[in-house]
Amino acid sequence: MFVFAADPDRPKPKLYADLAQAARAVTAGEPDIVANMANCAALIWQFVPHLNWAGFYRAVGDELVLGPFIGKPACIRIPFGQGVCGTAALAREIQVVADVRAFAGHIACDPASRSELVVPVVREGAVIAVIDLDSPEPARFDADDAAGFQLLATAIRDAI
Ligand code: SME
Repeated sequence: MFVFAADPDRPKPKLYADLAQAARAVTAGEPDIVANMANCAALIWQFVPHLNWAGFYRAVGDELVLGPFIGKPACIRIPFGQGVCGTAALAREIQVVADVRAFAGHIACDPASRSELVVPVVREGAVIAVIDLDSPEPARFDADDAAGFQLLATAIRDAI
């Protein structure tokens, strides 16, 4: 059993440092990438407030394929370059979208989503997955969230 303090009022740098540490703890010594992504999605859901979708898309060939997540059922395959996730994967750059309705090509999986953060997970120069976060709040994600999820992506890139 893993027990982690769930205090959403922590300052963001502390919250994300704790999240990365927890992710290292739950994935330590476990080679199964599906199990590790599933536990990391659960940790994100536990630690990060005001989300309606949190999880992974895996890079398979030239498209992203849905991985473990928490939220409503989502579209399964996203070609590189399409949507917020595919844009992040192709550009290898974090996407912070304050208003998904203003992002040309945004793929709506849950109509409640208003803002989105997508962070590529890069290992040995290749995008192996993206971490996708949706929020029902407009402009939910800022630079601290982007830096925090980059920290998480680096912490788990060898475990997923
Ligand atoms: N909105 C994403 C699709 C995935 S769902 O948000 C879970 C996109 O535009 O790529």
